[in-house]
Amino acid sequence: MNKILILDFGSQYTQLIARRVRELGVFCEIHPFSLPLDDIKVFDPKGIILSGSPASVYQPDAPLCHGEVIELGVPVLGICYGMGILGHLHGAVTTRSAYREYGRAKLVIDDSTDLFFNLEGDLSVWMSHGDKLEGIPDTFRRLAHTANAPFAAIRHRVQPLFAVQFHPEVAHTDSGKAILGNFLFKVCGCASDWQMRSFAEIAIDRIRRQVGDRRVLCALSGGVDSSVTALLIHQAIGPKLTCVFVDNGLIRKGEEAQVLQAMGEHLGLHLISVDAAERFLARLKGVIDPEEKRKIIGAEFIAVFEEESRRLGRFDFLAQGTLYPDVIESVSVLGPSVTIKSHHNVGGLPEQFDFELIEPLRELFKDEVRELGKEIGLPDVILWRKPFPGPGLAIRIIGEVTKARLDLLREADAIVEAEVAKTEVGRELWQAFAILLPIKTVGVMGDERTYEHVIAIRAVTSLDGMTADWARLPYDLLQAISSRIVSEVKGVNRVVYDISSKPPSTIEWE
Ligand code: XMP
Repeated sequence: MNKILILDFGSQYTQLIARRVRELGVFCEIHPFSLPLDDIKVFDPKGIILSGSPASVYQPDAPLCHGEVIELGVPVLGICYGMGILGHLHGAVTTRSAYREYGRAKLVIDDSTDLFFNLEGDLSVWMSHGDKLEGIPDTFRRLAHTANAPFAAIRHRVQPLFAVQFHPEVAHTDSGKAILGNFLFKVCGCASDWQMRSFAEIAIDRIRRQVGDRRVLCALSGGVDSSVTALLIHQAIGPKLTCVFVDNGLIRKGEEAQVLQAMGEHLGLHLISVDAAERFLARLKGVIDPEEKRKIIGAEFIAVFEEESRRLGRFDFLAQGTLYPDVIESVSVLGPSVTIKSHHNVGGLPEQFDFELIEPLRELFKDEVRELGKEIGLPDVILWRKPFPGPGLAIRIIGEVTKARLDLLREADAIVEAEVAKTEVGRELWQAFAILLPIKTVGVMGDERTYEHVIAIRAVTSLDGMTADWARLPYDLLQAISSRIVSEVKGVNRVVYDISSKPPSTIEWE
């Protein structure tokens, strides 16, 4: 199989490099920069990519890979810091630039034989560096330059060693994917033969070997990430996986039934549902502060989960649907050891647990997880679910959370979801939901005066939840949502639409 090895020097973009390589249909793995030479030989890559780094090659403790990496006869592409490494290994001098170059730069191509094959003219590329090569050794020649970087792309005159100062992996670089593609196909001679199916097969095989005869516990919320994680592990080890769905009373209408039906009955996962609604409500009584709500719900979730895991017997592994954006630190470049830090997306779960973690999605981005879910047969009802926060409806009830308020919001929210699902815009939205406000307003129904609750509607578009814009929903859709809520949800006489973007607002109200 064609394999690309990415050596990670701690760049925030390393996973993006991997993602682009996958998109181009080539298998790749990310390893720490310190991967021993023997392991590299065993891996047998068709090409090696050296990532960027927050470090500088001239620092005394700079992370450096084994010098022989460039003598294996395997093509190498150094990106940003990776260019510094390549230069350093050939005796070139890297210095701090007069000013940091961050953002767009105009790249002038000087040679379009290999890396820039089929690319002409000037490209807009994304720079993010404070260092630059002062000059290049005689054994190298220049392929492209920018106003501030005279050697923005170089190659060795004889060996297949390439380097670029800019970041071809980011979306802001014009033709970045084509440049990486030229490296993979033209330089390394890879074939485009890798698909999500291969990811699934490799992940399943890896889980099977890791778990052996032991048992895995998985908190299944019914969201896409935990569902894909659970199904993948189920396909690897079947009944040795136990999933726990916690009904905390803060979930959406019909959610429990949907998850049990889709994941348990339809797909055959061993799935246990725990009714913990009352204990969550009791703990939330009288609480109005958003952060306090979140903390109480997180702590209670852990308590319930711990009790269940003890009740169900001994487990060796805990499965989590951690995605790449949840993993904030890939490699600690300055320490002697490699630190992998996990972020837990189920309310800060396992620190107190004596489990090994299984996180099969930690290299993937959200849209790739959906693609993987589709590949392994996850039904559409789960696959196309909108993100739903761990603290659930509690952070969409401004003020105290009570059973009556939850019931009211659940009904209103179900109407929003149903009406949005009928339209074309539905799939383009990141989320669309209802919020219950802590005020009452006057209305008139029939000939009667009413004094009742207000529901706010929030619908946003977003790529990753980090920034968002309010969705320009069609008036007909807003009309349908509003009239159904006012006529079908008892206790509501007014509906308003939230037109704030993030920032300065957030998506959730609390
Ligand atoms: P905010 O409100 O921070 O939300 O703009 C960004 C995205 O994250 C979701 N969200 C959460 N997801 N646990 C989660 O798993 C949480 O505690 C949580 N809080 C917010 C939110 O729904 C939106 O998609």
